[in-house]
Amino acid sequence: MDVQGIKQRFGIIGNYGGLNRAIDIARQVAPTDLSVLITGPSGTGKEIFPQIIHQFSVRKHGQYIAVNCGAIPEGTSDSELFGHEKGSFTGAHESRKGYFEVADGGTIFLDEVAELPLSTQVRLLRVLETGEYIRVGSSKAQKTNVRVVAATNVDIPKAIQESKFREDLFYRLNTVPIQIPPLKERIDDIYLLFKKFANDFAERYRMPSISLDEEAVKVLETYDWPGNIRQLKNITEQISIIEKQRVIDVYTLKRYLPDYQEIRLPALLKSGETSSTFSSEREILYKILFELKADVNDLKKLVLGVMQSGVSAQDLETEDQHVFNRLFRGADFEVQNNATVKPFDVKKPREANIQDTEEIMEESLSIQDKEIELIKKALDRHHGKRKLAADELGISERTLYRKIKEYELE
Ligand SMILES: Nc1ncnc2c1ncn2[C@@H]1O[C@H](COP(=O)(O)OP(=O)(O)O)[C@@H](O)[C@H]1O
Ligand SMILES: [Mg+2]
Repeated sequence: MDVQGIKQRFGIIGNYGGLNRAIDIARQVAPTDLSVLITGPSGTGKEIFPQIIHQFSVRKHGQYIAVNCGAIPEGTSDSELFGHEKGSFTGAHESRKGYFEVADGGTIFLDEVAELPLSTQVRLLRVLETGEYIRVGSSKAQKTNVRVVAATNVDIPKAIQESKFREDLFYRLNTVPIQIPPLKERIDDIYLLFKKFANDFAERYRMPSISLDEEAVKVLETYDWPGNIRQLKNITEQISIIEKQRVIDVYTLKRYLPDYQEIRLPALLKSGETSSTFSSEREILYKILFELKADVNDLKKLVLGVMQSGVSAQDLETEDQHVFNRLFRGADFEVQNNATVKPFDVKKPREANIQDTEEIMEESLSIQDKEIELIKKALDRHHGKRKLAADELGISERTLYRKIKEYELE
């Protein structure tokens, strides 16, 4: 069977080169008895690979046992994997077979293998090297014929340095390494996966499938996906169930994407504004920083308010409702296109050259000083009259009051 056939049989979606390579390695290594170590971030689809390997091996009629090493209760992993004799520890009323005994002639998948305690790692190395193991509380070595496939999202070389993982075991497990790429690398697969999940959930919940408008597809493809395919699947399910409309726009989608970052910030500005002089680039950065800061402050206020009163979005005061809409319904794009700088106008920078990003960072650190200076000047000009100063600064009197307190300007 070729890679496409395997994808079909195991319900694997995607055409990314790295994914195809991983499947191809699994296919080629399957008929051998070599140990395989599957690495990749959480949610990338590692769990299907040991199944492929088992199914395409001569062991396919033998047992396939998947063990989540991270879920074994502390202190019991030796007994779980290798069994124990009656009376070998308190509570061991009966003798018990371990997975390596049960899976004789088959395959064991050790998921999250880096979670195994060091003492168990020693036993595991032994069974891999000699095919021999000893039940807890026994002195007799027993033979087993098991193929081991392991998976981890842990950086094992680092775990070795920190003495949490045995180097010799790593080399033994890693005879054939298979790396599973993160979702954000598989850009052309993201929408394919979304459509597949949307269809699956539509069928499961007996409702029309959701789809995305054009702009939403772009956002889907530029998002970072820290939780990878698992996260994409969960979000697709949430939207399918919660949203009433079936065509999902960009604003709705973004509400389901935590920490969504506009990664092409300069593209938010009109083409006329992106003159390539350094001073205007600096202005763009200022603008972004100011707006970011304002957003964060608004968010803090909003969250605090909600936490204190436990209100829902509909019950917010008018001003907070406005903030909520701006932040979550996406109106912030229009704000950026108007090119007004809030809360304060940025004066033209002094020097005309920016050599590198460090200098930009330094400048951004002094924003607070500039803000204080501007507030002081406005208050001076209006003889301490807050309403007038706030008007000049383009912020609400409430915000000014808060800033005066914050910077102790009284
Ligand atoms: N290429 C893919 N096509 C379809 N579904 C996938 C794909 N990769 C992963 N999944 C699904 O994503 C979820 C997470 O996969 P899983 O193997 O549990 O991730 P991992 O073990 O790497 O954390 C599972 O529901 C799995 O079926
Ligand atoms: Mg997993």
